[in-house]
Amino acid sequence: MKINTVVVIGAGTMGQGIAQWFAQQNLIVEMVDQNFEFALMSLDRIHQSFDKLQAAGKLSSSDVTIFKKNLSVKKLDGIDGNADLVIEAIIEDLDVKKKIFKDLDMTMSKYTIFASNTSSFSITQMAQSVSSERKQNFLGLHFFNPATIMKLVEVINGLETNPEISSSLIEWFNDRSKVACLCSDSPGFIVNRIARNFYGEALRAAETFDEVKFREIDKVMREVGGFKMGPFELMDLIGIDVNYSVTDSVYRAFFDEARFKPHRLQKDMVAAGRLGKKTGKGFYNYET
Ligand code: NAI
Repeated sequence: MKINTVVVIGAGTMGQGIAQWFAQQNLIVEMVDQNFEFALMSLDRIHQSFDKLQAAGKLSSSDVTIFKKNLSVKKLDGIDGNADLVIEAIIEDLDVKKKIFKDLDMTMSKYTIFASNTSSFSITQMAQSVSSERKQNFLGLHFFNPATIMKLVEVINGLETNPEISSSLIEWFNDRSKVACLCSDSPGFIVNRIARNFYGEALRAAETFDEVKFREIDKVMREVGGFKMGPFELMDLIGIDVNYSVTDSVYRAFFDEARFKPHRLQKDMVAAGRLGKKTGKGFYNYET
């Protein structure tokens, strides 16, 4: 499989990391966001990250020059219509995602592969937004945060995806230091499905907002459970809004199965704007 140009739609937490990783594979990467200024800020953050990696001796200055050149910010109507791969990483809203794919389907080459980084939506349902021909080139590519570091990429076939495309992509990623695995198109795929209980049971164990309990639960999961991060620090890193909407979507996709039920504390935190690290406050306080 040859991939030379990638368009990343959505320049938030995930889009930024995905764009950076692809640029580091020496591909041409175009980043798009509904908020153009925000996309420029994301580009700036990627440049800063390259500079830090260079200062730490992990990238050479010639690599950094090339990687920076590989990346650009575009408006949706200015992207390369012949790009090999489009990865959508916008907000977790099925209708908004479908609208983007519908629009792109009309302007992109028939050979362009469409991928969604959705955490929880059905790829088969999302693919209904595109033509029958494109459905064969439509799949899920679920990266993890931070996308430059986390090795796993879940690859998801919809009912009409051509399996040769996903198997070639799995090989492509595995040749480039990622660990790609094929998952069923079921709510939450593998990791987010199993992880619902990691967060859900932790929230039920804490029950109310109590930082002492969050610290204790995180400590036990880290020091005894062997996890790199406890559930509360991880929710703060992911974004409590993102995590809540994934839980809600998995719960509804399983027709309200109680074991996936969101917790009211998540809803309260989102209502209060305590979204985790990105807003300076979540289960913990990051403001100095
Ligand atoms: P985010 O909120 O950080 O970024 C979303 C970006 O999409 C924002 O910059 C927003 O302006 C942009 N956007 C929204 N609607 C748009 C549109 N119509 N056209 C262009 N840009 C648009 O969200 P995040 O965390 O990056 O999540 C993005 C996707 O990745 C979601 O589907 C999420 O479920 C998934 N995901 C998130 C992970 C995480 O740890 N945050 C991990 C893996 C997947």
